[in-house]
Amino acid sequence: MRNTQAVQLLSELSHTGRRAETFPPADVPTRSLNEMIPADFLAAQPPQLPELTEPDVVRHYVNLSTLNMSVDTHFYPLGSCTMKYNPKRHERLAKLPGIIDVHPYQSPANMQGLLAILYETQEMLAEIAGLPAVSMQPAAGAQGELTALLVASAYFRDKGEHRTKVVFPASAHGTNPASAAIAGFDCIQLPATANGFIDLDALRKAVDKNTAVFMVTNPNTLGLFEPDIAAAAQILHDAGGLVYIDGANMNAIMGITRPGDFGGDMMHYNVHKTFTGPHGAGGPGSGPIGVRDFLKDYLPGPIITKTTAAEGAVTYDLTTPVKSIGRVRTHFGNVGILLRGYFYLRTLGAQGVRDAAEQAILNANYLKAILAPVLNVPMGKYCLHEFVASASDVLKSRGISAMEIAKRLLDFGFHAPTVYFPLVVPEALMMEPTETESKETLDAFAAAVQMILEEDPEFLKLAPHTLPISRPSDVQAARQPVLKWTPCLRD
Ligand SMILES: Cc1ncc(COP(=O)(O)O)c(C=O)c1O
Repeated sequence: MRNTQAVQLLSELSHTGRRAETFPPADVPTRSLNEMIPADFLAAQPPQLPELTEPDVVRHYVNLSTLNMSVDTHFYPLGSCTMKYNPKRHERLAKLPGIIDVHPYQSPANMQGLLAILYETQEMLAEIAGLPAVSMQPAAGAQGELTALLVASAYFRDKGEHRTKVVFPASAHGTNPASAAIAGFDCIQLPATANGFIDLDALRKAVDKNTAVFMVTNPNTLGLFEPDIAAAAQILHDAGGLVYIDGANMNAIMGITRPGDFGGDMMHYNVHKTFTGPHGAGGPGSGPIGVRDFLKDYLPGPIITKTTAAEGAVTYDLTTPVKSIGRVRTHFGNVGILLRGYFYLRTLGAQGVRDAAEQAILNANYLKAILAPVLNVPMGKYCLHEFVASASDVLKSRGISAMEIAKRLLDFGFHAPTVYFPLVVPEALMMEPTETESKETLDAFAAAVQMILEEDPEFLKLAPHTLPISRPSDVQAARQPVLKWTPCLRD
């Protein structure tokens, strides 16, 4: 169980006259505030700053930092986010002076080592995607989506085609339609089959000569490989459209199969998820995109190129594709995260990457199996790297919702799974254990869920009970919308 002490604010810890530092008397003439600052800018009263000793301040912040949940401190099965352990070795390597001391305005001739690493990263990403051309500019998965859609727009514009629609399945991540709308497309959502998969008939009906792109996450957000992905891609290609694979779930398939091999024309990676860049709370991220050869001229630059001279000397350079849509980020992308991805891939090697995916799948299926007696998983007999349980039955029988389970898990020292996503599963709890978790951790987590489901539902409604803050006003706010406008993607 976690710290049960209430956290006091610095102002509450303050005692008049306490100081962290005492300064010797000034040996130069001093001036009062009134002499230095015009009266208009001075408040009637000086600000009431807390007065504290250095240990007071240090303990306050160190204690606050221990209240955070992170992959370094807790099991973090937040589905669709791949909260992977970040190996410390890669942190150390990414901070080597020869790498971090490079300034992006140095000439390429002056940073050949860094460019060699970035070039190799580009090549490995292309190989894992099965798509030959990569731009590492985008700084997040969502920005990768938007970038690829702008690439698609430029491609169709160049062909003289005015395609206005982007189609996606009901299980799509919210960033997919958001990116499509920002890129200026109309969003068409397809119904799912009863098993949660792409409905080919619905896709056939929706796709026509105005369809630019079909955006699909594969494995999908239920943690299941789309069995008809190749047939779906064929429908798009027959209509002259493109297939975008949202690569957020690459952790399940890296080294096993490739988006380029099952029909994808474009994809993004989430390097911060799949390849262990540390993330959470909004950043930092890295969302490179891979595309087929016929789309490479539209990519944002710079792309890292390699030239081998006749005598064998190798040079790396920065180039901008001829019809580039332009930059989407400064310099070469989010290099800090790309480097962690590079070291992850180099450390594991090709076989290790596949082993990691297989271990992630094994862990998810183990957790799914040991939770099966208490939580229903409506879609899929076996899952890939994650699965979506439903609290619908326990809500009906015992009045315990997905939210209650998630909140109470925090008391047991586990980060909550993703809840209420994907929307195709009612009372969804989406769990992604990742490859590094031990059997003991998974057993302890399942035991906690089992205990929670036997607790008093009234007690659960007030969980978490052991954290300094129980339920902030988000519950109330979520139930009483303050904003009143109706959604409209495009008119
Ligand atoms: C399926 C899926 N697609 C796209 C994204 C967006 O990625 P990012 O958070 O890097 O913008 C996410 C993020 O969770 C996701 O789960």
